[in-house]
Amino acid sequence: MGHVTTERSLVLVKPDGFARGLTGEVIRRIERKGYRLVALRILTPTREMLGRHYAEHAEKPFFGELVDFMSSGPVTAIVIEGNQCVPGFRSLAGATDPTKAAPGTIRGDLGRDWGKGSTENVVHGSDSPESAAREMAIWFPDL
Ligand code: RTP
Ligand code: MG
Repeated sequence: MGHVTTERSLVLVKPDGFARGLTGEVIRRIERKGYRLVALRILTPTREMLGRHYAEHAEKPFFGELVDFMSSGPVTAIVIEGNQCVPGFRSLAGATDPTKAAPGTIRGDLGRDWGKGSTENVVHGSDSPESAAREMAIWFPDL
């Protein structure tokens, strides 16, 4: 019988969410949704890791401030698992801009505009299974 691997996604509780003590609230929502936690670690990401993680944004005007923000303190990196968990977590997270994110979503309920250079929006979630595989290799090289 073949080994069945359900979908996985890479979630980050970003430095704003970690500093505000929201890691538990994010995990609570993931678990209540029904996804399984596979791996979890707390670390302050290096700029090198973030350059790989956000490679698609390297030429964007906000890239420098994004890396400054994301390397400013600890994050909680989490691998979650469950059928369709990539789009499912994106739905839980809500829109990128926390001001526009719908109430009921993580960003809508827990995020706001703090007037900083970078958009602080509490969480990251992989945008495709391919992105998830690429990102998991950055954050969990031993997984
Ligand atoms: P993420 O990758 O962090 O889950 O966020 P996302 O898919 O919703 O948004 P994405 O377009 O991938 O952007 C990555 C992160 O960069 C910051 N950003 N700032 N100032 C801006 O216009 C801008 N656009 C994006 C946000 O922190 C966003 O989550
Ligand atoms: Mg993205």
